[in-house]
Amino acid sequence: MRSAKMKFQVAKQLSNYSHRLINKTKQKSRDRNHHEMVAVEIIMAAAMVAVIVYLYVKRQQRYWARRNVPHLKPEFFYGNTKTLDHTEQLGMIFARFYNELKSSGPLAGVYMYVRPVAVVTDLELVKCVLVKDFQHFTDRGFFYNEVQDPLSAHMFSLPGSKWRSLRQKLSPTFTSGKMKMMFSTIVAAGKQFNDFLEEKVGRESEFEMKDLLARFTTDVIGMCAFGIECNSMKDPDAQFRVMGRKFFEDQRGLVKNVFHNAAPELAKKAGVRAVNKDVADFFLNVVRETIDYRVKNNVKRNDFMDLLIQMRNPKESESGENLLSFNELAAQCFLFYVAGFETSSTLLTWTLYELSLNQSVQEKGRQHVMDVLAKHGGKITYESVNDMIYLDKILNEALRKYPPVPVHFREATKDYQVPDTKITIETGTKVFIPVYGIHHDPAVFPDPERFDPERFSPEQVQKRHPYAWTPFGEGPRICIGLRFGMLQAKVGLLYLLKNYKFGIGKQCKVPLNFDVRSVILSPEGGLWLNVKKIY
Ligand code: HEM
Ligand SMILES: *[C@@H]1O[C@H](CO)[C@@H](O)[C@H](O)[C@H]1NC(C)=O
Repeated sequence: MRSAKMKFQVAKQLSNYSHRLINKTKQKSRDRNHHEMVAVEIIMAAAMVAVIVYLYVKRQQRYWARRNVPHLKPEFFYGNTKTLDHTEQLGMIFARFYNELKSSGPLAGVYMYVRPVAVVTDLELVKCVLVKDFQHFTDRGFFYNEVQDPLSAHMFSLPGSKWRSLRQKLSPTFTSGKMKMMFSTIVAAGKQFNDFLEEKVGRESEFEMKDLLARFTTDVIGMCAFGIECNSMKDPDAQFRVMGRKFFEDQRGLVKNVFHNAAPELAKKAGVRAVNKDVADFFLNVVRETIDYRVKNNVKRNDFMDLLIQMRNPKESESGENLLSFNELAAQCFLFYVAGFETSSTLLTWTLYELSLNQSVQEKGRQHVMDVLAKHGGKITYESVNDMIYLDKILNEALRKYPPVPVHFREATKDYQVPDTKITIETGTKVFIPVYGIHHDPAVFPDPERFDPERFSPEQVQKRHPYAWTPFGEGPRICIGLRFGMLQAKVGLLYLLKNYKFGIGKQCKVPLNFDVRSVILSPEGGLWLNVKKIY
């Protein structure tokens, strides 16, 4: 709150000064030398602004020092995140902070530009922030603009009170019963994907897999959330895929992000959007048309859209106790789409990369798929897929080594006294959990660069801290689509392993670098593999 006061004082001084400047300027307008005088005044004003900005930045960047919290020494203006201008992925930046600060206590401070951010460096404190003391950390502190940009008001970005009611309404949508209902749709997309690959392998031996995998998950989520055949498998420029890609590419605008962060209320008033207008119009239209069609023709498809339509308030501009307004409904649909396809497709991408590097794990996975299928009469059913526990181990290990969301975000909604320390996290402070750093800490996962699915055997899981592995987050705001994401990844992986063999392609860089401009942990330049059909 101090910083708000500070900003106000700065603004007042500036405005006083400019008034004086204008008055003086008027008074001297008869003066022959007034041009020179004005020049001098302007230089002085600029100097004064520079001094004020300097003092403001300096003061902001003493926040952790003032509060006696262990912290990294900030660089003027940039803080500790000079690399935010796209030379290092956000997950790596926070992993670096974690490594530098974990010996100094359970919580430490860094600066993203002038904003102080608390970094959790201890697993017990991870548990407190995400679960035990969740009531102090109900928000993520993401920008949204309900009025001008209704799609941005989705469950991921909404603050505590608004989030809670939505989460309650939507939770029944993701039970295992509902997953079972959607299973046949996921398998249908898996078959299409398989047919497509078969044709492709007939023509080429080495190709880029990341885009193909994204097209598979786009089709799955498109069918399940919108009941639409997106056809991105056959048509790489299908609208759904184009719009999804555009949304993620758009997240990179640094100026926009700084504005969202520094002055969210002002940004809202100025009508700044979080979702690009083309993308928003496209999705609002699709949702509108889908609802109209289904209501008119009484179509039932056992998918997310069906469940959402059941919650639709007939008075579409209003929310309700157990009902959603049209905008709310559209925003959740949109979120399922963006949260669902990129995370799951990068999970599959990294999985194939590691399986290509280690043929013995790949072969073991394939054998497992064959064995389980044989046990179930060769049928791909909800039960047989659930039985493929070694695929879970492989995917869990890929999620450890490459958590698609490599940092968890919280914002303190009440002051919080960090247990066993003298530190208080003040209301409004951003609190980040460095997931990638924890997943690669040799003290938590020995020999962390080794890809070893056996880390997820029950015995080894037992030996670890329960919050060592959190690729889906934890607590009341844990990923709501966790089961769905795992299910579609498993179905995709089983088709891949059953019918194809993968090796590292000639065009593939080893090790693969991270795409620094992507918010999701994604390989730069895609994944080039050589793929052979198994007969
Ligand atoms: C491998 C796939 C996925 C990964 C790794 C993943 C990861 C995550 C993570 C880390 C969070 C934040 C959790 C936290 O802050 O504690 C999250 C939130 C969320 N995810 Fe996922 N996700 C995946 C798939 C999906 C799918 C398929 C859907 C929907 C169909 C989905 C919908 C959501 C939603 C709605 C939230 C916000 C939950 C809330 O704030 O209450 N996710 N996800
Ligand atoms: C493949 O993974 C297994 C299990 O982690 C490991 O024992 C083996 O050494 C790995 N092989 C290669 C070539 O990395």
